Amino acid sequence: MSELPKYVGMYRGRDWITTIEWSREELDQILDAAMDLKKKFREKVEHPYLKGKTLFLIFYNRSLRTRNSFEAGMTQLGGHAHFLDPHDAIYTPALPGDEIAYTTERIADVARVLSRYGDGIAIRIYGKHAKWIYGRGNRIIREFARWADVPVINMECDMYHPCQAMADIMTIKEKLGKVEGKKFVMSWAYTPSVEKPLAVPQSAVLVATRFGMDVVLAHPRGFDLDPKVIEQCKKYADEFGGSFEIVHDMKAAFEGADVVYPKSWLSLNYIPPKASKPDFDGMKELFEKNRDWICDSEKLEVAKRDVIYMHCLPADRGYEVTDEVIDGPHSVVFDQAENRLHVQKAIMSMIMG
Ligand code: CP
Repeated sequence: MSELPKYVGMYRGRDWITTIEWSREELDQILDAAMDLKKKFREKVEHPYLKGKTLFLIFYNRSLRTRNSFEAGMTQLGGHAHFLDPHDAIYTPALPGDEIAYTTERIADVARVLSRYGDGIAIRIYGKHAKWIYGRGNRIIREFARWADVPVINMECDMYHPCQAMADIMTIKEKLGKVEGKKFVMSWAYTPSVEKPLAVPQSAVLVATRFGMDVVLAHPRGFDLDPKVIEQCKKYADEFGGSFEIVHDMKAAFEGADVVYPKSWLSLNYIPPKASKPDFDGMKELFEKNRDWICDSEKLEVAKRDVIYMHCLPADRGYEVTDEVIDGPHSVVFDQAENRLHVQKAIMSMIMG
């Protein structure tokens, strides 16, 4: 193989848990590496930068894009990804206090064993697998990171989905060119399910403010994001020359938008630690009051003529968005999905190379 690109092994050993822990310069390097890998993938230029390496994938929750882009990505990099079902194939990795004899295994032990066999551990955990306690999924991923001798990758927890956010900003840059000063609208949208985590909207607004965009967060009252995330976005807006505003009207938010990203997320008011126990009936009532929060052609009319419509997928068609919009000319959802592959290969090459 000809000489390795500089980015391979550039951040060897580092964990990828949130974008907050990575500088703006480092995020730019990830995007540059992703563009290089995308070009090589398209031109069928081999790039086995992780030859012989193994990534372990632990999915507590289901997945189409994340699982397949990590598995395909490792194959393309010359390595291999093992899929581990924590409910069946292995003893469920658990925190101290949650252990059940011969059913679970302490995370400290799982992380140290897998570190002896391979080169990275990637985890997805939120919702019922994190007992519906906001922040617990992230805590579990950090527990893996505490004990593992190899990099740990967050494949989505209850707080953050950093791989998605990097694919999102890569897609926005590809479509808009210069992103600074462009209007990015992250909006809540209705769905009959009340279980979607806050990971995508929180990571999206963190990255959009980090890249100097004029960010508008739109949601009905009661769907506030984590106050710590809001504070961080305000700081990023000041530091990187953009702006950050919260509104409670979807159509008004769309006015003049360059990017709209409408999707559902749950209300923190109905799960611990804010509530003493999960109250899905109460949450459902709040959802049902906001059925008109759907992204349709009429709402898109007030955005810029060449607005792009984004969704991380899976989208709840007919609820979050109409078929006309998601299958229409403004939609970039499959570019977003594709870019998951390229940014994740960039991150793996940098931290596992
Ligand atoms: N966007 C995303 O993470 O998709 P999956 O749930 O299919 O992995």
